[in-house]
Amino acid sequence: MPADTANLARAFAAQHGYEPRFIAEAPGRVNLIGEHTDYNDGFVLPVAIDRTVAVAVAPREDTRVRAHSVDHDQRDDFSLDNARRHPMGGWRNYVRGVLWALLDSQLHLSGVDLSISGDVPQGAGLSSSAALELALAGAICAASGIELPARDMALLCQRAEHMYAGVQCGIMDQFAAALGREGRALFIDCQSLETEDVPLPNGVAIVVIDSKVPRELAGTPYNRRRDECAEAARALGLASLRSATESQIESLPDALRRRARHVVSENARVLAAKAALRDGDFGTLGRLFAESHASLRDGFEASTPEIDLLVELANAAPGAIGARLTGGGFGGCTVNLVEASEAQRFGDAVVSQYRERTGLDGEAHVCRAVDGMQVRDA
Ligand code: GLA
Repeated sequence: MPADTANLARAFAAQHGYEPRFIAEAPGRVNLIGEHTDYNDGFVLPVAIDRTVAVAVAPREDTRVRAHSVDHDQRDDFSLDNARRHPMGGWRNYVRGVLWALLDSQLHLSGVDLSISGDVPQGAGLSSSAALELALAGAICAASGIELPARDMALLCQRAEHMYAGVQCGIMDQFAAALGREGRALFIDCQSLETEDVPLPNGVAIVVIDSKVPRELAGTPYNRRRDECAEAARALGLASLRSATESQIESLPDALRRRARHVVSENARVLAAKAALRDGDFGTLGRLFAESHASLRDGFEASTPEIDLLVELANAAPGAIGARLTGGGFGGCTVNLVEASEAQRFGDAVVSQYRERTGLDGEAHVCRAVDGMQVRDA
């Protein structure tokens, strides 16, 4: 894991005046395919990536929480029985939200001192918030002597996101941060919550390109899209769009039909991509990525001109296998499958042409698939 945990332990000691007891570290994620399907009980295929958030922690004898963001150089201080939303928002509400979710499931927590640092790009659609939540949950549980299965932690963190960050997200990001595996993608059936590790084929690199058009899901139409999907399912008399068929959807009014068509077709693409990944069938993966992007752009309307440009440039760059918008959309990043030997040249080519066309400094990240949240002695 890449985060500089030695530096984090030093920052903890400087802030709190003694050494931390545990360090928990959780990864961001990039979604290969299956966008806006998780909250429709559908399929997703994310990868936990080697950009992480780490939390150094020690238990306290009382019920106080003294939290410290090393990267923001900011602090928070409150009592466990008063973990209300912070009016200033930001990282403090993730600390408070995770504590609330743990307490709300009747877990007995001790007070904690903690320091946080990370290198998951924020506001880029790489789930820095899920990484932060899982690292916090892992740290706070370790400090309180609580052992929770990783998937339960993920579900608690999703509740924290709903209640404290105001994003009605699905389960993909928290599951990826909790259950990702080195060298593998994580297939999730978001209805049964069953998961399957899918080995990434040799010779392929995952290159994430950040458009540097920042967004926060809470300020985008993300929640509206979720409502539209729920409305489409209701209109069809279904619990979710998971079981909708292509022909059923035709009866929906125009906007709802386009949203639902994306979800239904995207679920089929995830299953096809899982098989293609196992077979190392790059041609099929490229086609599925292209179809997914077009569907998100035209049907789900979750793309932006900058993201569309990044996909267009990627498709003509050296080593390209497939490119598409990844994550919630409305800005953020593209995910690209690239021949491994060309990964660097590919990233450089796309970023420099993007700069020429938009004046924006995009950034390429060549990512490795890593394990989900880990806790160790500091
Ligand atoms: C965000 C949410 C996820 C998922 C994606 C879109 O990342 O947090 O739950 O809905 O958007 O696929």
